[in-house]
Amino acid sequence: MSSCIAKTYTAPNPPEAEKKVLRGFIDSLTNESRLLSLSTQFQPQGDFPHAPHCYSRNILMRMESGAEVMIARWDQDAVTPIHGHPQFAFVYVLQGQLQMEHYHDTDQGLLLAETIIKNKGQHIYAAGIAGRYDNAIHRVTALTPSLSLHVYSDDALKGKFFS
Ligand SMILES: [Fe+2]
Repeated sequence: MSSCIAKTYTAPNPPEAEKKVLRGFIDSLTNESRLLSLSTQFQPQGDFPHAPHCYSRNILMRMESGAEVMIARWDQDAVTPIHGHPQFAFVYVLQGQLQMEHYHDTDQGLLLAETIIKNKGQHIYAAGIAGRYDNAIHRVTALTPSLSLHVYSDDALKGKFFS
């Protein structure tokens, strides 16, 4: 299936207690184990839009620095473009199953390095180079309807798109 262009929504202003939790994620961007422990306790509030054949991006918090906490709701078989990320990127599967193809950017173009599957409760964490948006290049496919939590050190839409 070809990739889709996801719509981005901004979730309504969360209650103070939830804001504190969301700030905790952003403050923990350099600490993978802390991010993971926060994620296992995290229960997202609210309904996130269903995007047929695609996924919706729901921004829960955005800092002046651009750092953000986002929930993605995936339809089965939704595919992202191949894309890079800001310096720090954390993705935690709340529900469902995501496949991720990781690529290396080489002189010969993009080379597939590995394909991994992440189930509920599993995560990826990538610490790359500051100021670059081609870190941790991958493509994500939702193998089932899924929900995932994303924490980025900058607006993920600044990530370099390859397809
Ligand atoms: Fe990504």
